Amino acid sequence: MYLTRDEEDILAGEEGESCQKAMELVVALGKIYGAEDLIGITSAHLSGASYKTIGDGGLKYLEDMVKGGAAVSVPSTLNPVGMDRGRWKEMHIPSAFAEKQLKIIELYKKMGVAATCSCTPYLDDNVPSLGDHVAWAESSALSFVNSYIGARTNREGGPGALAAAIIGKTANYGLHLDHNRIPTVVIDADIDGSVFSYSMLGQAVGTAIGSGIPYFRGISPAVDDAKTMSAAMAASGSVALYHVEGVTPEAGNFDISGLERISIGKKELRDAYDKLNTAEDVQLIALGCPHLSRKEMKDIAAFLKGKKKKNKNVEIWFCTSSKIREECAEEVRIMEEFGPVLADTCMVVAPIEGTFQRTGTNSAKAGNYLPTLCSQKVICRDISKLMDVVL
Ligand code: F3S
Repeated sequence: MYLTRDEEDILAGEEGESCQKAMELVVALGKIYGAEDLIGITSAHLSGASYKTIGDGGLKYLEDMVKGGAAVSVPSTLNPVGMDRGRWKEMHIPSAFAEKQLKIIELYKKMGVAATCSCTPYLDDNVPSLGDHVAWAESSALSFVNSYIGARTNREGGPGALAAAIIGKTANYGLHLDHNRIPTVVIDADIDGSVFSYSMLGQAVGTAIGSGIPYFRGISPAVDDAKTMSAAMAASGSVALYHVEGVTPEAGNFDISGLERISIGKKELRDAYDKLNTAEDVQLIALGCPHLSRKEMKDIAAFLKGKKKKNKNVEIWFCTSSKIREECAEEVRIMEEFGPVLADTCMVVAPIEGTFQRTGTNSAKAGNYLPTLCSQKVICRDISKLMDVVL
């Protein structure tokens, strides 16, 4: 693998131990995946932020990085953490957990990472452009920026994305290269066009193809549709890039004749739905996977306005970014009559298993992870049907 003189110097430790460690990791990944060289990145998005997922080992790793003087060299944002920084008591979070979680956030801040704690930084704080090379972790977000925006990132893990953020470069392989962005299968989709139908479509396609690069025909996703579909495909499969005919910026670049074709319609969506629904009732309804956009906040508030929460036994959480929560004061006022509007966190990376066993969601991604990461049985429905339980 070719390294420039400057890169060799960093590897030799001339820029300090943290940069050396970061370079070692990026080079090691590059060698594993056959990269010929490194490529500069314009931003990073880091996962590995919840104390629930990284534990004491991860906390120690971050402490060591900070002690070694680690600092990011490109704009970098942080994924959701295990609790709302200011409202963790409402989430039934033990104070021992809260203490460690706040420490983790501080450590990232010390490294210069913007502690946005959202999985939708592409809506606000970290918006790549077409053709930008970036190093993003968080499977839903990286799939969105790869596909809908046409930026270029591999499916980075937390430590790999942090290492790339520190040296400002990543190994040049995989989805950074033109020839690896070519679609591998055509999906002829027949859905009703609701956000929930995009979630089920993503679930069905991820299940059907696993990995690969689908090329969709017959759909026209808006931002929120692509947001939920990206998340679903990355969770039920490991899809990190897709194209949509007439919608995504690279879709027109390819000749799709000769590719395998798969039709996804009512039957496949029903199978996806049946697989995700494993509970009869719920104790918690958690919306905002990925984090709610401004439009979703408006839609939910409009739906709830004038209604009353009749079933007090079910908690409702709305998860969004702190910026959107701040901006949507009127919507938040309406929604808070039903449950807290939480920022910085989500139902999957928060330790909900200490309090709940059955959770309702409108997200296929959450539907995949709630059973495995949070020991939950799940009801997965569109928002109006979920809310039937409490209204
Ligand atoms: Fe975001 Fe949590 Fe879902 S990080 S994509 S809300 S699992």
